[in-house]
Amino acid sequence: MISPDLLLMGGSAAVSAFTLWRWRRLDGGTTPAVAEETAGVPVELGPAVSIVTDSAQLAVMWPALGLGSWETGFPTITAATLTEAGMLVEVQILGGQSLQHWANDATREVLAAYFAVPEVRVTSPHPGFVHLELRTVDTLAESVPVTSLLAYGVDLEAVPVGVTEDHDVWRLRVMYSHILIAGATNSGKGSVLWSIVNGLGPAIKAGLVDILLGDPKGGMEFGAGEDRLWTDFQWTATGIITMLTSAEAEMQERAARFKAAGIRKFTPSADEPLKVVIIDEYAALSAFATREQVTEGLRLIGLLLTQGRAVGYSVIVAIQDPSKDNMPNRQLFSTRIGLRFDESGQTSMVHGKEAADRGSRCHMISEATPGVAYVGQDGTKDFRRVRAFWVSDTDIDRIVDTYSPALPDLSPQADYSGFDPDDLGDEPTPVAA
Ligand SMILES: Nc1ncnc2c1ncn2[C@@H]1O[C@H](COP(=O)(O)OP(=O)(O)OP(=O)(O)O)[C@@H](O)[C@H]1O
Ligand SMILES: [Mg+2]
Repeated sequence: MISPDLLLMGGSAAVSAFTLWRWRRLDGGTTPAVAEETAGVPVELGPAVSIVTDSAQLAVMWPALGLGSWETGFPTITAATLTEAGMLVEVQILGGQSLQHWANDATREVLAAYFAVPEVRVTSPHPGFVHLELRTVDTLAESVPVTSLLAYGVDLEAVPVGVTEDHDVWRLRVMYSHILIAGATNSGKGSVLWSIVNGLGPAIKAGLVDILLGDPKGGMEFGAGEDRLWTDFQWTATGIITMLTSAEAEMQERAARFKAAGIRKFTPSADEPLKVVIIDEYAALSAFATREQVTEGLRLIGLLLTQGRAVGYSVIVAIQDPSKDNMPNRQLFSTRIGLRFDESGQTSMVHGKEAADRGSRCHMISEATPGVAYVGQDGTKDFRRVRAFWVSDTDIDRIVDTYSPALPDLSPQADYSGFDPDDLGDEPTPVAA
């Protein structure tokens, strides 16, 4: 029997269940019945709690899962804590085992089946230990409206775009970064894009960020910002290629100027704003563009991706099908957001071959939670599960109204108060007698 003192249960209901057990044992009483042990624990965690608190059951479970045996010894559960999402079980693993033994798909699935929970995630906080997260509650099940973060200022390297699974703000680096957003139809790509625009809003208004938007799906989704929020807005093949061509040329010109002036790091200003090139569903272009136009567009996007970051050009592309043919430069995006996919193969296309073992399960995201995604970032191995803000049509109108830069003042600047519209200037000026 593992010591109940090792169980650090959070949540008052759980604490009472385990305190009761400890009290009885300290009192010299008998081991309580399972029903008493699990009283107050959420019903869906009942089987798991009864297993982790019973060394006899654990001695059967570890060999059954191939994670321990009477010969090699058993892993040790050092703590179990009720969390908002379920239960966290901390385990000291056996010598010779690694995270890989525990985190692979097959082991996680049998652990989930054994504990009778929908999902078990495995991470390693320190060498020699693993955390088993038994998840029974989806903390991202409720959508979060975009308006809740309006008061935040803008850090272009940490733009608020949603919430994380741990109720943190999900922030995206837009400056010095490129972002790929991939997901099936209706998975929420539009809400990620609009959440980014909302987060950038005050900087757009201040003239520090220009958005160049290509919408090959016909201009419907982003048309609300035409001639107001976007510096350039194109939806035809020729228009999009022309926009990318001039963006690339201006980027080269800016790079040459920076080099000549010895500027190493881009800082946005009203004269030299951050240029954010957004393309929603580049692949849709192939429906009406020539093959040459599609290839040329990809070449230009490739140049912006490889050379734009340091000089203030960021690229954000949303795509439905993340295959190599559609987006050959996937690895050049430093942030890759995977929304819901239909197949696990698509998760790997966005997040790499071992994505599932490292915690990205885009293909398991429910259709009922659009906007939920796994985010991978260069320089970090793990994936974060997040949900973009929900941006309604009313929110879109508000974003456009609030953040569109002021239009140039074309009203007459001189004093025309004495102007007489009937005076066509053809009357001879009376000559003084
Ligand atoms: N973050 C979110 N929270 C709640 N609901 C959302 C969220 N994102 C999207 N939705 C809902 O899902 C629907 C589809 O979202 P969206 O248009 O953003 O998907 P999409 O991936 O851009 O689809 P498509 O591929 O057709 O362009 C929206 O109409 C909206 O009702
Ligand atoms: Mg869309």
